[in-house]
Amino acid sequence: MNNLIAIIPAAGIGKRLEQGINKAFVQIAGVPILVHCLKMLEGTSMIKKVVIAVAPGEVEDARRMLGKFQKEYFPSMLFTVVAGGNERQDSVANALAVISENEGYIAVHDAARPFAGKEVFLRVMETAEKYSAAVAAVPVKDTIKMVGEAGEILVTPDRGLLHAVQTPQIFEIGLLKKAYTYLREHPAKVTDDASVVELLGKKVVIAMGRYENIKITTPEDLVFAEFFLAGKEDIMKTDNLNMPQFRTGIGFDVHKLEQSRRLVLCGIEVPYEKGLLGHSDADVSLHALMDALLGGAALGDIGRYFPDTDEHFKGADSAELTKQVAGMLQAEGWHINNIDITIIAEQPKLAGYIAAMRNSVAQMLKISTDCVSIKATTTEKLGFTGRGEGIAATAVASLMK
Ligand code: CTP
Ligand code: MG
Repeated sequence: MNNLIAIIPAAGIGKRLEQGINKAFVQIAGVPILVHCLKMLEGTSMIKKVVIAVAPGEVEDARRMLGKFQKEYFPSMLFTVVAGGNERQDSVANALAVISENEGYIAVHDAARPFAGKEVFLRVMETAEKYSAAVAAVPVKDTIKMVGEAGEILVTPDRGLLHAVQTPQIFEIGLLKKAYTYLREHPAKVTDDASVVELLGKKVVIAMGRYENIKITTPEDLVFAEFFLAGKEDIMKTDNLNMPQFRTGIGFDVHKLEQSRRLVLCGIEVPYEKGLLGHSDADVSLHALMDALLGGAALGDIGRYFPDTDEHFKGADSAELTKQVAGMLQAEGWHINNIDITIIAEQPKLAGYIAAMRNSVAQMLKISTDCVSIKATTTEKLGFTGRGEGIAATAVASLMK
């Protein structure tokens, strides 16, 4: 599809943007809006050339500026710069006057809409091929009122029928030329090109635009544009929003019970004939807890920080490691809301130690004991825990920042 010529009206003064210059030359992320627009047009791969209308006194500056940016931003776009007129419709008419082609289509697209994108161009083009004249539009979200001079509401049109019209507006070349000739002969004030074709009594059909396809008009639009051009994905990332983030992490661990080992659970030594076997002190409950904490913060797992192949961690005190993990989370700005540990052991009975364990973990994490839940259960003599071969633990942690 390469029979599309674009007209870019860019000859306004940008009064409402309050930057003191034509907004087409206002920079976003160091690049003029007009250049962003041409880059977007090149990205559609649909356009064979562009005619840009700027204010008569800006033609030379615009050519120089575009020459400077072309290589990096729109290397294969053919463009011509012409002098626009007092009103947008005059600028479009002046651009139209240098287009000698009579076959194919013209897309009129405001310089101030650099976010239209390929999908919208494709949809409008497809509709124009079917109906000769098509414009991008989106259903209005607000209820629209027609209001009188004293602010009194005159009419409330049915919102279901209302659409906000954008550009691109795409027309058969012959039709657009005919419409603009008619306008010259029957002067009227219009604010878009569809209106000119409508004056001819011809049907214009809408195609779905996109809400992001704003016309940069007032100062707050620049803020949106900066964000948008900085990378849409970045805006969407939750960590860029000033909203609290909540996370949950889960952990699980198992250690084998052996003779002549100490049994340490949640940092508390529990008297028992066996203890847990492991590279460190094998505090299975704290290992599950550390994994839950690291998981919630998406920081990996304990094997990453305290590998059991490292001699340094032989016999390590898991309470110390847990404090280190709490420190890592704190460094990343995470606050621990609560944690919940379940220890799965047939023997020994742990009820008498739970209170001490909760205090111990609360101290390691520097949180209130109220936020620490520790439970013990058996597996009804089933499985390795039921046979007393080992102890398992699960943990859940809730984080916030
Ligand atoms: N435009 C144009 N010639 C004019 C007036 C406007 O080519 N005489 C262009 C603008 O440069 C813009 C598009 O038409 O790309 C849409 O117009 P608008 O958003 O109204 O831009 P400005 O007229 O520049 O802004 P303002 O009305 O705030 O002064
Ligand atoms: Mg204007």
